[in-house]
Amino acid sequence: MLRPWPVSLGDRISRSRDVPMYMQIIQAVIRDIERGRLTSGAYLPSSRELAQILGVNRKTVVLAYEDLIAQGWLDSTGTRGTMVATSLPDPVKRQHAEIEATMSNAAVDYRFAPPPERPLALPSGSGLKLDEGAPDGRLFPAELLARAYRSAAHNASRENGFQYRDPRGSPALRESIATMLKSQRGLPVTAENICITRGSQNGIFLASQVLVSPGDSVIVEALTYEPAVAAFRALGANIVPVDVDEDGINTDAVEYACRRNAVRAVFVTPHHQFPTTVSLRPERRLRLLELARQFGFAIIEDDYDHEFHFESQPLLPMAGYGPGLVIYVGSMSKLLLPALRIGYVAAPPPVIDAIAHMVSLTDGMGNTLTEDAAAELIENGELRRHARKVRQIYAKRRESFAAEIDKTLGDIADYRMPDGGLAFWLRFHDTDLDQMEQRAAAMGLRFASSRSFMTRADAPRGLRIGFASLNPYEARTALAALRKAAG
Ligand SMILES: Cc1ncc(COP(=O)(O)O)c(C=O)c1O
Repeated sequence: MLRPWPVSLGDRISRSRDVPMYMQIIQAVIRDIERGRLTSGAYLPSSRELAQILGVNRKTVVLAYEDLIAQGWLDSTGTRGTMVATSLPDPVKRQHAEIEATMSNAAVDYRFAPPPERPLALPSGSGLKLDEGAPDGRLFPAELLARAYRSAAHNASRENGFQYRDPRGSPALRESIATMLKSQRGLPVTAENICITRGSQNGIFLASQVLVSPGDSVIVEALTYEPAVAAFRALGANIVPVDVDEDGINTDAVEYACRRNAVRAVFVTPHHQFPTTVSLRPERRLRLLELARQFGFAIIEDDYDHEFHFESQPLLPMAGYGPGLVIYVGSMSKLLLPALRIGYVAAPPPVIDAIAHMVSLTDGMGNTLTEDAAAELIENGELRRHARKVRQIYAKRRESFAAEIDKTLGDIADYRMPDGGLAFWLRFHDTDLDQMEQRAAAMGLRFASSRSFMTRADAPRGLRIGFASLNPYEARTALAALRKAAG
Protein backbone atom coordinates (compact mmCIF):
# COMPACT_ATOMS: atom_id res chain seq x y z
CA MET A 1 0.00 0.00 0.00
CA LEU A 2 1.37 3.41 -0.99
CA ARG A 3 1.85 6.16 1.52
CA PRO A 4 -1.38 7.96 2.37
CA TRP A 5 -1.85 11.48 1.10
CA PRO A 6 0.05 13.99 3.18
CA VAL A 7 -2.85 16.16 4.06
CA SER A 8 -1.33 19.60 4.13
CA LEU A 9 -4.19 21.48 2.64
CA GLY A 10 -3.77 24.26 5.21
CA ASP A 11 -4.37 27.55 3.47
CA ARG A 12 -5.70 25.93 0.29
CA ILE A 13 -8.99 24.85 1.79
CA SER A 14 -10.64 27.55 3.74
CA ARG A 15 -14.14 28.60 4.61
CA SER A 16 -13.30 32.19 3.86
CA ARG A 17 -12.91 31.55 0.13
CA ASP A 18 -16.08 32.06 -1.89
CA VAL A 19 -15.85 28.54 -3.36
CA PRO A 20 -17.94 25.81 -1.66
CA MET A 21 -15.87 23.49 0.60
CA TYR A 22 -16.90 20.48 -1.43
CA MET A 23 -15.54 22.12 -4.60
CA GLN A 24 -12.33 23.15 -2.84
CA ILE A 25 -11.67 19.52 -1.82
CA ILE A 26 -12.20 18.38 -5.42
CA GLN A 27 -9.88 21.09 -6.75
CA ALA A 28 -7.17 20.31 -4.16
CA VAL A 29 -7.20 16.57 -4.94
CA ILE A 30 -7.03 17.13 -8.72
CA ARG A 31 -4.29 19.72 -8.36
CA ASP A 32 -2.22 17.40 -6.17
CA ILE A 33 -2.66 14.56 -8.67
CA GLU A 34 -1.57 16.87 -11.49
CA ARG A 35 1.46 18.00 -9.52
CA GLY A 36 2.49 14.47 -8.53
CA ARG A 37 1.92 14.96 -4.79
CA LEU A 38 -0.74 12.28 -5.07
CA THR A 39 0.37 9.43 -7.30
CA SER A 40 -1.60 6.70 -8.93
CA GLY A 41 -2.58 4.05 -6.35
CA ALA A 42 -2.06 6.34 -3.32
CA TYR A 43 -4.70 6.10 -0.62
CA LEU A 44 -6.60 9.11 0.57
CA PRO A 45 -7.63 9.61 4.19
CA SER A 46 -11.02 8.18 5.03
CA SER A 47 -13.89 10.61 4.68
CA ARG A 48 -14.24 10.70 8.49
CA GLU A 49 -10.53 11.54 8.94
CA LEU A 50 -10.47 14.23 6.30
CA ALA A 51 -13.68 15.76 7.62
CA GLN A 52 -12.08 15.97 11.04
CA ILE A 53 -8.87 17.52 9.70
CA LEU A 54 -10.75 20.12 7.70
CA GLY A 55 -13.46 20.72 10.26
CA VAL A 56 -16.24 20.04 7.78
CA ASN A 57 -19.22 17.75 7.77
CA ARG A 58 -18.32 14.20 6.70
CA LYS A 59 -21.05 14.37 4.03
CA THR A 60 -19.12 17.17 2.33
CA VAL A 61 -16.06 14.93 1.96
CA VAL A 62 -18.18 11.95 0.86
CA LEU A 63 -19.80 14.10 -1.81
CA ALA A 64 -16.41 15.31 -3.06
CA TYR A 65 -14.97 11.76 -3.13
CA GLU A 66 -18.06 10.47 -4.97
CA ASP A 67 -17.69 13.15 -7.63
CA LEU A 68 -13.97 12.44 -8.01
CA ILE A 69 -14.71 8.72 -8.38
CA ALA A 70 -17.45 9.41 -10.95
CA GLN A 71 -15.06 11.65 -12.89
CA GLY A 72 -12.34 8.97 -12.94
CA TRP A 73 -9.79 10.65 -10.66
CA LEU A 74 -10.25 8.24 -7.75
CA ASP A 75 -11.16 4.54 -7.35
CA SER A 76 -13.12 3.15 -4.46
CA THR A 77 -11.60 -0.12 -3.19
CA GLY A 78 -14.52 -0.94 -0.92
CA THR A 79 -13.52 -1.43 2.69
CA ARG A 80 -9.86 -0.58 2.06
CA GLY A 81 -10.68 3.00 1.20
CA THR A 82 -10.34 5.44 -1.67
CA MET A 83 -7.25 5.64 -3.85
CA VAL A 84 -6.01 7.66 -6.79
CA ALA A 85 -7.18 5.84 -9.93
CA THR A 86 -4.59 3.34 -11.15
CA SER A 87 -5.48 4.24 -14.73
CA LEU A 88 -3.85 7.67 -14.33
CA PRO A 89 -0.34 8.05 -15.74
CA ASP A 90 2.59 9.00 -13.56
CA PRO A 91 2.88 12.75 -13.61
CA VAL A 92 5.81 14.46 -15.25
CA LYS A 93 8.17 15.53 -12.50
CA ARG A 94 8.28 19.31 -12.49
CA GLN A 95 9.40 22.03 -10.17
CA HIS A 96 6.35 23.85 -8.98
CA ALA A 97 6.43 27.33 -7.63
CA GLU A 98 5.48 27.71 -4.01
CA ILE A 99 2.70 30.13 -4.91
CA GLU A 100 -0.54 28.49 -5.96
CA ALA A 101 -1.11 29.08 -9.69
CA THR A 102 -4.39 30.66 -10.65
CA MET A 103 -5.66 31.76 -14.05
CA SER A 104 -4.52 35.25 -13.14
CA ASN A 105 -0.89 34.50 -12.29
CA ALA A 106 -0.09 31.25 -14.14
CA ALA A 107 2.87 31.30 -16.50
CA VAL A 108 1.48 30.23 -19.90
CA ASP A 109 3.12 26.98 -21.02
CA TYR A 110 1.84 26.93 -24.60
CA ARG A 111 2.35 29.07 -27.67
CA PHE A 112 -0.32 31.56 -28.60
CA ALA A 113 -0.57 34.66 -30.76
CA PRO A 114 -0.50 37.76 -28.55
CA PRO A 115 -2.33 40.87 -29.74
CA PRO A 116 -0.32 43.36 -31.78
CA GLU A 117 1.94 45.75 -29.92
CA ARG A 118 -0.71 48.44 -30.02
CA PRO A 119 -4.04 46.69 -29.36
CA LEU A 120 -7.12 48.19 -30.96
CA ALA A 121 -9.16 48.94 -27.87
CA LEU A 122 -9.01 52.46 -26.53
CA PRO A 123 -7.09 52.61 -23.26
CA SER A 124 -9.65 51.86 -20.59
CA GLY A 125 -10.13 53.82 -17.42
CA SER A 126 -12.04 56.74 -16.13
CA GLY A 127 -11.96 60.24 -17.54
CA LEU A 128 -13.49 61.90 -20.52
CA LYS A 129 -13.71 59.82 -23.67
CA LEU A 130 -14.16 61.19 -27.16
CA ASP A 131 -15.33 58.61 -29.67
CA GLU A 132 -14.90 58.46 -33.43
CA GLY A 133 -18.56 58.83 -34.34
CA ALA A 134 -20.74 56.76 -32.01
CA PRO A 135 -24.44 57.46 -31.53
CA ASP A 136 -25.94 58.66 -28.26
CA GLY A 137 -27.29 55.42 -26.82
CA ARG A 138 -29.21 57.36 -24.19
CA LEU A 139 -31.64 58.56 -26.85
CA PHE A 140 -33.10 55.11 -27.45
CA PRO A 141 -35.79 54.32 -24.85
CA ALA A 142 -34.81 51.11 -23.02
CA GLU A 143 -38.51 50.33 -22.62
CA LEU A 144 -38.95 49.99 -26.40
CA LEU A 145 -36.08 47.56 -26.54
CA ALA A 146 -37.42 45.57 -23.60
CA ARG A 147 -40.81 45.32 -25.30
CA ALA A 148 -39.24 44.16 -28.57
CA TYR A 149 -37.24 41.49 -26.76
CA ARG A 150 -40.33 40.39 -24.89
CA SER A 151 -42.30 40.02 -28.06
CA ALA A 152 -39.40 38.22 -29.83
CA ALA A 153 -39.05 35.82 -26.90
CA HIS A 154 -42.78 34.99 -26.89
CA ASN A 155 -42.79 34.40 -30.64
CA ALA A 156 -39.68 32.24 -30.48
CA SER A 157 -41.12 30.19 -27.64
CA ARG A 158 -44.39 29.65 -29.53
CA GLU A 159 -42.60 28.66 -32.74
CA ASN A 160 -39.86 26.47 -31.19
CA GLY A 161 -37.41 29.18 -32.20
CA PHE A 162 -34.98 28.84 -29.28
CA GLN A 163 -33.11 26.19 -31.24
CA TYR A 164 -29.92 26.35 -33.29
CA ARG A 165 -30.85 28.26 -36.39
CA ASP A 166 -29.66 29.47 -39.77
CA PRO A 167 -26.12 30.92 -39.53
CA ARG A 168 -27.24 33.63 -41.96
CA GLY A 169 -29.35 35.06 -39.15
CA SER A 170 -32.97 35.71 -38.24
CA PRO A 171 -35.20 35.24 -41.32
CA ALA A 172 -37.41 38.14 -40.23
CA LEU A 173 -34.46 40.54 -39.98
CA ARG A 174 -32.89 39.35 -43.22
CA GLU A 175 -36.22 39.99 -44.91
CA SER A 176 -36.56 43.48 -43.37
CA ILE A 177 -33.01 44.46 -44.21
CA ALA A 178 -33.33 43.22 -47.79
CA THR A 179 -36.51 45.28 -48.20
CA MET A 180 -34.83 48.36 -46.71
CA LEU A 181 -31.70 47.99 -48.89
CA LYS A 182 -33.84 47.56 -51.98
CA SER A 183 -36.30 50.35 -51.39
CA GLN A 184 -34.02 52.94 -49.75
CA ARG A 185 -30.49 52.21 -51.02
CA GLY A 186 -31.12 50.77 -54.47
CA LEU A 187 -29.50 47.39 -53.88
CA PRO A 188 -30.99 44.64 -56.09
CA VAL A 189 -31.31 42.14 -53.23
CA THR A 190 -33.60 39.65 -51.55
CA ALA A 191 -33.17 37.95 -48.16
CA GLU A 192 -31.03 35.33 -49.94
CA ASN A 193 -28.38 38.01 -50.39
CA ILE A 194 -28.16 38.88 -46.71
CA CYS A 195 -26.16 37.46 -43.84
CA ILE A 196 -26.62 39.09 -40.45
CA THR A 197 -23.35 39.69 -38.60
CA ARG A 198 -22.23 40.89 -35.18
CA GLY A 199 -21.80 44.50 -36.23
CA SER A 200 -20.09 45.67 -39.40
CA GLN A 201 -16.68 44.87 -37.91
CA ASN A 202 -17.70 41.22 -37.88
CA GLY A 203 -18.98 41.65 -41.45
CA ILE A 204 -15.59 43.01 -42.56
CA PHE A 205 -13.82 40.18 -40.75
CA LEU A 206 -16.04 37.53 -42.32
CA ALA A 207 -15.70 39.06 -45.78
CA SER A 208 -11.93 39.09 -45.43
CA GLN A 209 -12.02 35.44 -44.34
CA VAL A 210 -13.59 34.40 -47.63
CA LEU A 211 -11.49 36.74 -49.79
CA VAL A 212 -7.97 36.83 -48.42
CA SER A 213 -5.26 34.19 -48.09
CA PRO A 214 -1.79 34.77 -46.62
CA GLY A 215 0.31 36.90 -48.97
CA ASP A 216 -2.67 38.34 -50.90
CA SER A 217 -2.66 42.08 -51.27
CA VAL A 218 -5.43 44.26 -49.91
CA ILE A 219 -5.64 47.91 -50.87
CA VAL A 220 -6.67 50.36 -48.18
CA GLU A 221 -6.52 54.14 -48.06
CA ALA A 222 -3.54 55.91 -46.48
CA LEU A 223 -6.02 57.03 -43.83
CA THR A 224 -8.56 54.41 -42.91
CA TYR A 225 -10.36 52.37 -40.28
CA GLU A 226 -7.70 50.54 -38.33
CA PRO A 227 -9.76 47.55 -37.13
CA ALA A 228 -10.44 46.61 -40.76
CA VAL A 229 -6.73 46.73 -41.56
CA ALA A 230 -6.06 44.65 -38.46
CA ALA A 231 -8.56 42.02 -39.68
CA PHE A 232 -6.75 41.78 -43.04
CA ARG A 233 -3.36 41.66 -41.32
CA ALA A 234 -4.53 38.85 -39.06
CA LEU A 235 -5.04 36.78 -42.20
CA GLY A 236 -1.50 37.44 -43.40
CA ALA A 237 -2.52 40.00 -46.03
CA ASN A 238 -0.04 42.34 -47.62
CA ILE A 239 -1.49 45.81 -46.95
CA VAL A 240 -1.09 48.26 -49.83
CA PRO A 241 -1.95 51.82 -48.79
CA VAL A 242 -2.98 54.29 -51.51
CA ASP A 243 -3.65 58.03 -51.44
CA VAL A 244 -6.95 59.53 -50.39
CA ASP A 245 -7.96 63.15 -50.98
CA GLU A 246 -11.08 65.32 -50.76
CA ASP A 247 -12.74 63.20 -53.49
CA GLY A 248 -12.04 59.89 -51.73
CA ILE A 249 -9.69 57.09 -52.74
CA ASN A 250 -7.30 57.97 -55.57
CA THR A 251 -8.25 55.51 -58.31
CA ASP A 252 -5.09 56.18 -60.36
CA ALA A 253 -3.15 55.01 -57.31
CA VAL A 254 -5.40 51.93 -57.13
CA GLU A 255 -4.59 51.07 -60.74
CA TYR A 256 -0.87 51.61 -60.13
CA ALA A 257 -1.00 49.30 -57.09
CA CYS A 258 -2.94 46.64 -59.02
CA ARG A 259 -0.26 46.55 -61.69
CA ARG A 260 2.34 45.71 -59.04
CA ASN A 261 0.46 43.44 -56.63
CA ALA A 262 -1.97 40.53 -56.73
CA VAL A 263 -4.83 42.51 -55.25
CA ARG A 264 -7.73 40.47 -53.88
CA ALA A 265 -9.71 43.21 -52.18
CA VAL A 266 -10.04 46.97 -51.84
CA PHE A 267 -11.50 48.24 -48.59
CA VAL A 268 -13.36 51.56 -48.81
CA THR A 269 -15.92 53.64 -46.92
CA PRO A 270 -17.27 55.54 -49.95
CA HIS A 271 -20.25 57.23 -48.34
CA HIS A 272 -18.40 58.88 -45.47
CA GLN A 273 -14.69 58.19 -45.78
CA PHE A 274 -13.22 57.07 -42.48
CA PRO A 275 -11.68 59.13 -40.95
CA THR A 276 -11.84 62.17 -43.26
CA THR A 277 -15.69 62.12 -43.76
CA VAL A 278 -15.51 62.92 -47.51
CA SER A 279 -17.74 61.13 -50.05
CA LEU A 280 -16.25 59.21 -52.94
CA ARG A 281 -17.01 61.11 -56.14
CA PRO A 282 -19.22 59.36 -58.74
CA GLU A 283 -16.50 59.26 -61.42
CA ARG A 284 -14.14 57.57 -58.99
CA ARG A 285 -16.84 55.09 -57.99
CA LEU A 286 -17.28 54.08 -61.62
CA ARG A 287 -13.53 53.85 -62.14
CA LEU A 288 -13.10 51.68 -59.04
CA LEU A 289 -15.78 49.29 -60.31
CA GLU A 290 -14.07 49.19 -63.70
CA LEU A 291 -10.73 48.39 -62.03
CA ALA A 292 -12.39 45.66 -59.95
CA ARG A 293 -13.64 44.06 -63.15
CA GLN A 294 -10.27 44.48 -64.87
CA PHE A 295 -8.07 43.17 -62.05
CA GLY A 296 -10.54 40.73 -60.47
CA PHE A 297 -10.59 42.16 -56.95
CA ALA A 298 -13.56 42.52 -54.63
CA ILE A 299 -14.60 45.88 -53.25
CA ILE A 300 -15.50 45.75 -49.56
CA GLU A 301 -17.90 48.67 -49.23
CA ASP A 302 -18.20 49.55 -45.55
CA ASP A 303 -21.31 51.72 -45.23
CA TYR A 304 -21.15 51.90 -41.44
CA ASP A 305 -23.26 55.03 -40.85
CA HIS A 306 -25.36 55.34 -43.99
CA GLU A 307 -28.42 56.73 -42.23
CA PHE A 308 -26.90 60.04 -41.28
CA HIS A 309 -26.44 62.37 -44.20
CA PHE A 310 -27.35 65.96 -43.52
CA GLU A 311 -26.72 67.97 -46.64
CA SER A 312 -28.67 65.95 -49.21
CA GLN A 313 -30.16 62.52 -49.76
CA PRO A 314 -27.63 59.80 -48.84
CA LEU A 315 -25.56 58.63 -51.82
CA LEU A 316 -26.58 55.26 -53.18
CA PRO A 317 -24.06 52.52 -52.42
CA MET A 318 -21.76 51.14 -55.12
CA ALA A 319 -23.23 47.70 -54.48
CA GLY A 320 -26.39 49.00 -56.15
CA TYR A 321 -24.69 49.41 -59.52
CA GLY A 322 -21.85 46.86 -59.22
CA PRO A 323 -23.52 44.00 -57.34
CA GLY A 324 -21.15 41.28 -58.56
CA LEU A 325 -18.04 43.29 -57.67
CA VAL A 326 -18.92 44.50 -54.19
CA ILE A 327 -19.36 42.94 -50.76
CA TYR A 328 -21.58 45.46 -49.04
CA VAL A 329 -21.29 45.78 -45.25
CA GLY A 330 -23.82 47.71 -43.17
CA SER A 331 -24.64 48.15 -39.52
CA MET A 332 -27.40 49.00 -37.10
CA SER A 333 -24.86 50.24 -34.54
CA LYS A 334 -25.15 53.91 -35.40
CA LEU A 335 -28.87 54.03 -36.09
CA LEU A 336 -29.87 51.87 -33.15
CA LEU A 337 -27.26 50.84 -30.58
CA PRO A 338 -23.68 49.54 -30.88
CA ALA A 339 -24.33 47.20 -27.95
CA LEU A 340 -26.82 45.14 -29.96
CA ARG A 341 -24.03 44.05 -32.31
CA ILE A 342 -26.13 43.86 -35.44
CA GLY A 343 -24.57 44.32 -38.84
CA TYR A 344 -25.13 42.70 -42.19
CA VAL A 345 -23.39 41.69 -45.37
CA ALA A 346 -25.09 41.84 -48.78
CA ALA A 347 -23.54 39.83 -51.61
CA PRO A 348 -24.45 37.19 -54.22
CA PRO A 349 -25.70 33.91 -52.65
CA PRO A 350 -22.48 31.87 -53.16
CA VAL A 351 -20.54 34.51 -51.21
CA ILE A 352 -23.27 34.64 -48.56
CA ASP A 353 -23.03 30.84 -48.24
CA ALA A 354 -19.25 31.06 -47.78
CA ILE A 355 -19.70 33.80 -45.16
CA ALA A 356 -22.43 31.80 -43.40
CA HIS A 357 -20.03 28.86 -43.26
CA MET A 358 -17.51 31.12 -41.50
CA VAL A 359 -20.25 32.19 -39.09
CA SER A 360 -20.93 28.56 -38.26
CA LEU A 361 -17.21 28.08 -37.55
CA THR A 362 -16.89 31.10 -35.30
CA ASP A 363 -20.10 31.54 -33.35
CA GLY A 364 -22.42 28.91 -34.76
CA MET A 365 -25.11 31.43 -35.56
CA GLY A 366 -26.01 34.96 -34.62
CA ASN A 367 -27.86 36.27 -31.60
CA THR A 368 -31.21 35.30 -33.03
CA LEU A 369 -33.27 36.72 -30.21
CA THR A 370 -31.63 40.14 -30.54
CA GLU A 371 -32.04 39.97 -34.31
CA ASP A 372 -35.73 39.08 -33.97
CA ALA A 373 -36.15 41.98 -31.54
CA ALA A 374 -34.52 44.34 -34.07
CA ALA A 375 -36.85 43.02 -36.79
CA GLU A 376 -39.75 43.76 -34.46
CA LEU A 377 -38.54 47.37 -34.05
CA ILE A 378 -38.43 47.74 -37.82
CA GLU A 379 -41.84 46.17 -38.36
CA ASN A 380 -43.64 48.12 -35.65
CA GLY A 381 -42.23 51.42 -36.96
CA GLU A 382 -40.28 52.28 -33.79
CA LEU A 383 -36.94 52.30 -35.59
CA ARG A 384 -38.27 54.71 -38.21
CA ARG A 385 -39.56 57.03 -35.47
CA HIS A 386 -36.24 56.81 -33.65
CA ALA A 387 -34.32 57.55 -36.87
CA ARG A 388 -36.41 60.64 -37.50
CA LYS A 389 -35.86 61.86 -33.95
CA VAL A 390 -32.09 61.30 -33.79
CA ARG A 391 -31.48 62.72 -37.26
CA GLN A 392 -32.90 66.01 -36.04
CA ILE A 393 -30.93 65.91 -32.82
CA TYR A 394 -27.67 64.99 -34.52
CA ALA A 395 -28.16 67.65 -37.20
CA LYS A 396 -28.40 70.26 -34.42
CA ARG A 397 -25.44 68.77 -32.57
CA ARG A 398 -23.36 68.88 -35.75
CA GLU A 399 -24.07 72.60 -36.11
CA SER A 400 -23.37 73.43 -32.49
CA PHE A 401 -20.25 71.25 -32.42
CA ALA A 402 -18.91 73.14 -35.42
CA ALA A 403 -19.59 76.45 -33.67
CA GLU A 404 -17.87 75.16 -30.55
CA ILE A 405 -14.83 74.02 -32.55
CA ASP A 406 -14.62 77.49 -34.09
CA LYS A 407 -14.70 79.04 -30.66
CA THR A 408 -12.35 76.65 -28.87
CA LEU A 409 -9.94 75.36 -31.48
CA GLY A 410 -10.46 77.84 -34.31
CA ASP A 411 -6.90 79.23 -34.12
CA ILE A 412 -5.18 75.83 -34.28
CA ALA A 413 -7.46 73.46 -36.20
CA ASP A 414 -9.31 73.34 -39.52
CA TYR A 415 -12.17 71.16 -40.60
CA ARG A 416 -14.62 70.76 -43.42
CA MET A 417 -18.23 70.52 -42.31
CA PRO A 418 -19.03 66.80 -42.75
CA ASP A 419 -21.94 66.21 -45.17
CA GLY A 420 -22.82 63.12 -43.22
CA GLY A 421 -21.69 60.72 -40.57
CA LEU A 422 -21.30 61.43 -36.90
CA ALA A 423 -17.79 62.86 -36.64
CA PHE A 424 -15.51 65.74 -37.55
CA TRP A 425 -12.05 65.38 -39.04
CA LEU A 426 -9.79 67.97 -37.46
CA ARG A 427 -6.48 69.02 -39.01
CA PHE A 428 -4.16 70.87 -36.64
CA HIS A 429 -1.55 73.41 -37.60
CA ASP A 430 1.34 74.51 -35.40
CA THR A 431 0.45 71.76 -32.96
CA ASP A 432 2.62 68.78 -32.13
CA LEU A 433 0.04 66.00 -32.15
CA ASP A 434 2.28 63.49 -30.37
CA GLN A 435 2.78 65.94 -27.54
CA MET A 436 -0.91 66.81 -27.50
CA GLU A 437 -1.89 63.15 -27.30
CA GLN A 438 0.56 62.52 -24.48
CA ARG A 439 -0.75 65.51 -22.57
CA ALA A 440 -4.35 64.37 -23.14
CA ALA A 441 -3.53 60.91 -21.82
CA ALA A 442 -1.97 62.43 -18.70
CA MET A 443 -5.14 64.50 -18.22
CA GLY A 444 -7.35 61.41 -18.50
CA LEU A 445 -8.78 62.56 -21.84
CA ARG A 446 -9.13 59.58 -24.18
CA PHE A 447 -9.51 59.55 -27.96
CA ALA A 448 -8.16 57.54 -30.88
CA SER A 449 -4.60 58.50 -31.66
CA SER A 450 -4.02 60.34 -34.92
CA ARG A 451 -1.59 57.58 -35.84
CA SER A 452 -4.29 54.91 -35.56
CA PHE A 453 -5.82 56.07 -38.87
CA MET A 454 -2.54 56.08 -40.76
CA THR A 455 -1.46 53.13 -42.87
CA ARG A 456 1.47 55.13 -44.23
CA ALA A 457 3.92 57.35 -42.38
CA ASP A 458 3.39 60.23 -44.83
CA ALA A 459 -0.41 60.23 -44.52
CA PRO A 460 -1.90 63.56 -43.40
CA ARG A 461 -2.45 63.51 -39.67
CA GLY A 462 -5.57 64.58 -37.87
CA LEU A 463 -8.08 63.68 -35.19
CA ARG A 464 -11.51 62.21 -35.73
CA ILE A 465 -13.89 63.44 -33.07
CA GLY A 466 -17.47 62.23 -32.82
CA PHE A 467 -20.16 64.79 -32.03
CA ALA A 468 -23.38 62.78 -31.86
CA SER A 469 -22.91 61.05 -28.52
CA LEU A 470 -22.34 64.31 -26.64
CA ASN A 471 -24.99 66.72 -25.46
CA PRO A 472 -24.09 70.43 -25.76
CA TYR A 473 -22.65 70.62 -22.26
CA GLU A 474 -20.55 67.49 -22.78
CA ALA A 475 -19.38 68.74 -26.17
CA ARG A 476 -18.24 72.03 -24.63
CA THR A 477 -16.38 70.24 -21.86
CA ALA A 478 -14.78 67.80 -24.30
CA LEU A 479 -13.55 70.47 -26.69
CA ALA A 480 -12.26 72.61 -23.83
CA ALA A 481 -10.28 69.60 -22.61
CA LEU A 482 -8.94 69.01 -26.11
CA ARG A 483 -7.86 72.64 -26.27
CA LYS A 484 -6.08 72.30 -22.93
CA ALA A 485 -4.23 69.23 -24.20
CA ALA A 486 -3.18 71.15 -27.30
CA GLY A 487 -1.46 73.67 -25.00
C1 LIG B 1 -15.62 52.77 -40.55
C2 LIG B 1 -16.21 51.84 -39.55
N1 LIG B 1 -16.46 50.58 -39.93
C3 LIG B 1 -16.98 49.69 -39.06
C4 LIG B 1 -17.27 50.04 -37.76
C5 LIG B 1 -17.76 48.99 -36.84
O1 LIG B 1 -18.97 49.25 -36.26
P1 LIG B 1 -19.96 48.10 -35.81
O2 LIG B 1 -19.17 46.83 -35.76
O3 LIG B 1 -20.45 48.52 -34.48
O4 LIG B 1 -21.02 48.06 -36.85
C6 LIG B 1 -17.04 51.35 -37.33
C7 LIG B 1 -17.34 51.75 -35.95
O5 LIG B 1 -17.23 52.86 -35.56
C8 LIG B 1 -16.51 52.27 -38.25
O6 LIG B 1 -16.27 53.52 -37.88
